[in-house]
Amino acid sequence: MGEHIEKLKNHLKKLAKFESASSLLHWDLEVYMPKKAANKRAEIIGEIAGFTFREFISDKTLQLLENAENEAKTFEEKALIKVTKKEYERYKKIPPELFVEFQIETSKAHQSWQNAKIENKFEIFEPNLEKVIELTKEITDCLGYDENRYDALLDQYEPGLKTSDLHRIIPPLKDFLTNFLDKLSLGNHPNENLLNGTFNIEKQKIFSNKLLKILNFDFDSGRLDVSMHPFTITISHNDIRITTTFDEKDLKNSIFSTIHECGHALYEQGIPEELRELPIGEAASNGIHESQSRFWENIIGRSLEFWKYLYPDFIEIFPQFKDVKLIDFWRSINTVKKSLIRTEADEVTYNLHIMMRFEIEEALVNDKIKVKELPLLWNEKMKEYLGITPQNDSEGVLQDIHWSHGSFGYFPSYMLGNLYASQFYEAMKKDIKNINSLIENGKFNVILNWLREKIHSKGKLFEPKELLKQVTNEPLNPSYFINYIKDKYEKVYML
Ligand code: CO
Repeated sequence: MGEHIEKLKNHLKKLAKFESASSLLHWDLEVYMPKKAANKRAEIIGEIAGFTFREFISDKTLQLLENAENEAKTFEEKALIKVTKKEYERYKKIPPELFVEFQIETSKAHQSWQNAKIENKFEIFEPNLEKVIELTKEITDCLGYDENRYDALLDQYEPGLKTSDLHRIIPPLKDFLTNFLDKLSLGNHPNENLLNGTFNIEKQKIFSNKLLKILNFDFDSGRLDVSMHPFTITISHNDIRITTTFDEKDLKNSIFSTIHECGHALYEQGIPEELRELPIGEAASNGIHESQSRFWENIIGRSLEFWKYLYPDFIEIFPQFKDVKLIDFWRSINTVKKSLIRTEADEVTYNLHIMMRFEIEEALVNDKIKVKELPLLWNEKMKEYLGITPQNDSEGVLQDIHWSHGSFGYFPSYMLGNLYASQFYEAMKKDIKNINSLIENGKFNVILNWLREKIHSKGKLFEPKELLKQVTNEPLNPSYFINYIKDKYEKVYML
């Protein structure tokens, strides 16, 4: 390795260490921190973020990049320069004062969103959201874009993705899903009541740990804790932490949250050490990250084969299910319902929740609608997409945390995750012929190794479009998701 590449890497790795410290503070904030520490903690995390931001956009970084550029020979070195340069140029375009203002305003907005949600009053959040959107637009205008302001936002989460891609993908998918929902309503509905009951939290913990174990989560490189909203965070290499949530009345919640976050963690645990602490040592994108969590949660975790393997152990821990037939249990965990809350949505309706958010976000950042129109518009869109209307703002426009963080452009990653996951799965089935029998026998390591080789080991060396092409020989093709949904849910609803 050339001397200048080495210097660049050392500089980036140094900055990554500050990010590690900040991640640990953040994890603690969600898991253990006493309530009164919130303001100071936000200040500490903000200070570190400001420091690393200034260091990253410094002339030193530029100098190191320019020197290293001529030295880059291997594919990895070239990718390192490319990815780092893109990030450098993006951040460099944002004036530091604007960056800091955005941090401050989003943390205020986050507070007011929480209050608004508790009080059930959008008006509390409205002025803060207006400010956040104003700053978001200012930032996008610094970043620049060709046709659509939303492109600049998408690119942060899904490099290379354009708003026009979404306009192409969404309409046929929306049509399919809406028609398919009509079809399901004529089918044989699963008995959801099977899942009612009270489930001891300690037992749920035991089961969550069991799930992680069979799915090959590496407990020597990570841990499971509890938080209000489940999440995965990478502190550093060999320290990938996940959280789940336990609800005495809802067993599904902890099971599928745990599997979902495990999927994220397996990806992070699979990123090679030599890429770590560098911009190429991250996930390819949010959408690719979500493909991994959704793959394990839905395609594997909600499959009949998975429960064939697990059901005996499950019944041992939760004997109240001993008279419930496996097939009925499986059907009940796959119940499809038009519901108000995105995070509780099933596989069929989930993407509809995303589509309406995308429509609203695109209109917002392009000045087509005003913040004060949001509650009404939200309810109209809910009616249009899912045929139901929220009774109040908390279960409507205020339900998601994202806008309070200023994360506009993030939602489409969830939909892409679902689409990528099915497309990866089809490619996987070509390589692994006996996949159903592997799942039935709990041989998840074969599946994980495939994901490791094709996706995890690549880090951020490729943009999502490129990676997808490499793994599946095709650009994004939503028909894999459509076929997966059809095949599975025609069985669940006995059509
Ligand atoms: Co996720």
